[in-house]
Amino acid sequence: MSNNTTERGSFTTKLGVIAATVGAAVGLGNIWKFPYTAGVNGGGAFIIVYLIFVLFLGLPLIMSEFFIGRNTGQNPRGAFRTLSKIKSWQAFGLLCFICPILILSFYSVVAGWTAEYLWLSVSGDLTGKSAQELSSLFQGFSQDPVRPIIWMILFLILTISVSLGGIKNGIERVSNILMPVLFLILLILAGRSLLLEGAAEGLRFMFQPDFSKITSKVILDAMGQAFFSLSVGMGALITYASYFKKETNLPQTAVIVAILDTTVAILAGIIIFPAVFTFGISPAQGPELVFITLPNVFNQMTGGQLWSILFFFLLAVAALTSTISMSEIVVTYMMEEYKLSRKKILLGLFVVCSILGSLCSLSLGVMNDIRILGRDIFSLVDFTASNILMTLGGASIVIFVGWFVNKEIIYQEMLQGSKMKRSFFAMYYYTVKYIAPVGLITILLSQFGLI
Ligand code: TRP
Repeated sequence: MSNNTTERGSFTTKLGVIAATVGAAVGLGNIWKFPYTAGVNGGGAFIIVYLIFVLFLGLPLIMSEFFIGRNTGQNPRGAFRTLSKIKSWQAFGLLCFICPILILSFYSVVAGWTAEYLWLSVSGDLTGKSAQELSSLFQGFSQDPVRPIIWMILFLILTISVSLGGIKNGIERVSNILMPVLFLILLILAGRSLLLEGAAEGLRFMFQPDFSKITSKVILDAMGQAFFSLSVGMGALITYASYFKKETNLPQTAVIVAILDTTVAILAGIIIFPAVFTFGISPAQGPELVFITLPNVFNQMTGGQLWSILFFFLLAVAALTSTISMSEIVVTYMMEEYKLSRKKILLGLFVVCSILGSLCSLSLGVMNDIRILGRDIFSLVDFTASNILMTLGGASIVIFVGWFVNKEIIYQEMLQGSKMKRSFFAMYYYTVKYIAPVGLITILLSQFGLI
């Protein structure tokens, strides 16, 4: 693998494709963000809206990004240039470049938290503490001006070192082995959580929707969460699919990714909500929810410390496979569009993300007074990326694929490596052409207060 040219590798095996794509999709979004966003938004009603978005927007978007990426074999900007002569579509490329940088910045902060919790698990500092003590422990840590930033920077260094090794060696090997292990651990933890006293209440909170709770904020948050979790709307999957082979079955891979990603999110909910109600924690606690809930569960388990170590290790790995793919998107983009070397790009990315990430981290503690549009910096960066840029990106992708690309080209690409039925294709196509754009534009307009 050469580092300084734009020479492209590709994924080697079918399982490798799925494992790596799932590795990019499954991450802190499923295990940290989904439960707390569901909690803040009242549980069941949010989850129903979320599932509708996964099916009607998420899945068609995954397929569309796969189509664009594999058909052109290029980064998002190059891909749009190849498929359409209209120059303004390339502006989309810029979005695909800014979005992962913003996400990587606040994501690394939370990834750093998982590293701290892994450390605390190993040292035994989480063992034997009450729910109250665990809560103040997290507050103290996350508001500290130094410690979370050190972890964040270490995490960024790790990400960038793996990225330096190139796509095949780094991502594929790690995620092939560890993703299934993570899944297994989640199943075991879900089983344990369901034995807790608060299990029934937790499940009711998740699965008994109170439709009066659906507000425009719930809808927006559910969509932002669906996009974030599936990694759609920012060209990530265009970049990934540009490394797919012609034999890769696009519709099937898309369905598998959507199902696995959603399963992991729901499993995380099944682990967390029973514990929330058992230990008297508020489900609407916010970003700290996972970090103050799970150590309580581990404390109740035989061999809890070992489970805790295993869990935070795997969560850190899940975060790592996601941060690697974010950095890979930026690298592919800059290498192909600006002919810069991998090393230079990664160095630049490190500097930018360390600064922005530090600001995000500090905004939870000493810089909490600084509010922009009513938000602290951390949640502003998250909101800009997940709710504004990804919605814009998603709208661009469906409008582009539905209205600016010849339908037959899309169908033929989908048929490579699959036996997609015409009727399934028709359903996909009409969703992309009509339903998704109308839905996304409505949401965007309401976001800006225009309707
Ligand atoms: N889907 C990832 C998660 O749930 C986060 C993510 C968003 C992401 N956009 C991405 C990961 C782009 C890789 C590439 O944690």
